[in-house]
Amino acid sequence: MEFCGLFAGNGGIPAIPLLHKELWLMIKEKVREAINAQINAELYSSYLYLSMSAYCESINLRGFANWMKVQAQEELVHAAKFFAYVNTRGGRVLLREIAGPPTEWKSPLDAFKHVLEHEIKVTGLINDLVKLAVNENDPATQTFLQWFVNEQVEEEESANDAIQKLKLAGETGPGLFMIDRELATRVFVMPPAGGAGAAAPNAPAP
Ligand code: FEO
Repeated sequence: MEFCGLFAGNGGIPAIPLLHKELWLMIKEKVREAINAQINAELYSSYLYLSMSAYCESINLRGFANWMKVQAQEELVHAAKFFAYVNTRGGRVLLREIAGPPTEWKSPLDAFKHVLEHEIKVTGLINDLVKLAVNENDPATQTFLQWFVNEQVEEEESANDAIQKLKLAGETGPGLFMIDRELATRVFVMPPAGGAGAAAPNAPAP
């Protein structure tokens, strides 16, 4: 048993010992490890979208670049929600190396196809976390994850929406300019604080 600052001077009266976190750990190890991996996945997502934003800037599509940058900000919030949840449950967050993202895409359409493909992958990761929480008999984590289940539906929808618009309007000329202007209007909206159990989804992306 480990104690921090055990019986620190208090006029001879024994103080309440500060217990090491392991003593009140409320999250199972398997769940904690899986959420730590998810924090890494969310940070990678942010890195990926920031890289896409840089690519869009490089081809003078400022609206596309803005959309990707807002997406990158949202991913940081996702990581922060998981981070806070592990701490709330008495677990230890361990940050790992974040892989380098790609830096080039063939076109804006190619980039958005990659966004959709990536979000489908993240949905799979979230679904795996839900399955794990069910198997580990952890209803608090199941409730916490519900926000992310809803969020993934929106994330896939907004990426698919951009793909369909690009296909309809074309990837060059006035059509592309029109979509760029629309994507420039997207603003980052901080989702409700906490996250654990919060059912309200983020404001929809343009
Ligand atoms: Fe954090 Fe885009 O999912």
